[in-house]
Amino acid sequence: MRFSLVLGTRPEIVKMAPVVRQLQLCGEDFELVHTGQHYSYDMDQVFFQDLRLPRPTVNLEVGSGPHGAQTGRMLVGLEAHFLRSRPDMVLVQGDTNTVLAGALAAAKMNIPVGHVEAGLRSFDRRMPEEINRVLVDHISDLLFTPTETSAQNLEREGVTKGVHVTGNTIVDAVRQNLRLAEERDDVLRGLGLSSGGYVLTTMHRQENVDSPSRMANVLRALGQVAGETGLDVVWPVHPRTRKNLDNFQLKVPQRVRVIEPLGFLQFLQLEARAALALTDSGGLQEECCILGVPCVTLRDSTERPETVRVGANVVVGTEPERVLEGVRRMLGSQRDWACPLGQEGAGARIVTICREFRKTEA
Ligand code: UD1
Ligand code: UDP
Repeated sequence: MRFSLVLGTRPEIVKMAPVVRQLQLCGEDFELVHTGQHYSYDMDQVFFQDLRLPRPTVNLEVGSGPHGAQTGRMLVGLEAHFLRSRPDMVLVQGDTNTVLAGALAAAKMNIPVGHVEAGLRSFDRRMPEEINRVLVDHISDLLFTPTETSAQNLEREGVTKGVHVTGNTIVDAVRQNLRLAEERDDVLRGLGLSSGGYVLTTMHRQENVDSPSRMANVLRALGQVAGETGLDVVWPVHPRTRKNLDNFQLKVPQRVRVIEPLGFLQFLQLEARAALALTDSGGLQEECCILGVPCVTLRDSTERPETVRVGANVVVGTEPERVLEGVRRMLGSQRDWACPLGQEGAGARIVTICREFRKTEA
């Protein structure tokens, strides 16, 4: 059986890594197909190095662009590639434009599609990711949901065939790499930080960073958090956000330290020892929940409600008062929640289900 794993952005590389590892362990025939949606060294290659992933067979180098143009270029490239490589199954992970293009190109060619991290819903169709999630789930043959909640989301939309609750592969990615991360050079020392002495922040959502007023709000909030808590705020800045900080000519408050994006192992270290995370990232909401680090989410909704239910996360939007309220509450919180994202082994469960599927289809 030949698998094509389509990926293109930072979170897909991280969360697909446990599936890749399992395919290698089982001696399966697979290839990595990179769309090139992310291409800067610190958004792309560093993750292949840190996670010791094989090089992609092909990189379509589609790069950045408006949604239609970017997704369209991916579709053209993926179709041509699948015609040559003839995979038996295509796997995609998450909710990016790469995922939509990978699933759509395969489905139109009658190649079975497996969607890793299926069934997540923010119920906010203004988010490009929500459109991608819904569309991909409805054309996938196998849907690997991280939790019962995500399986129920699918059921409400009439998607019941091929649904498997496997847990989230991020649990594997964190557990498999945390020790390795800790053995790495000491990122905290390099940045002059002490364990528990700083807040980690990241932000890149279109609805936040493409809006000057929301960006300005978040910056004000970060300044106030630093002022009130006396903690440093460390901010590895996503390139989209960097560009808009410049375009909107926004000033970063004192005590907010802007740094370049980090590789996964360095970032994991910084995340694991943070007092708190302030973020609009999906992956960070999950990783913090796994690591026992409280999270304050700078969005109006989340597709990860399980993290909120167990008390690991609060969703506060971008108004400074609400952000501060969330920070006060979460800094004082117990960190003893049970992780709701499944047990380790999601990568192995996904590969087993794919192999079974192939047997029944053959
Ligand atoms: C994409 C995903 C988002 C995901 C995020 C992970 C979509 C619709 N969005 O958002 O769901 O959470 O990746 O980080 O698929 N850029 C660079 N170098 C890069 C990549 C991007 O400089 O390697 C800059 C470019 O200016 C580009 C901008 O970032 O225009 C946005 O990149 P894009 O891939 O379109 O969206 P992300 O915001 O990264
Ligand atoms: N990440 C990283 N370095 C950084 C910021 C994030 O390695 O400087 C990792 C993080 O640990 C997580 C993933 O990137 O695994 C999350 O990606 P992102 O926030 O870009 O996307 P999202 O999860 O919101 O789709």
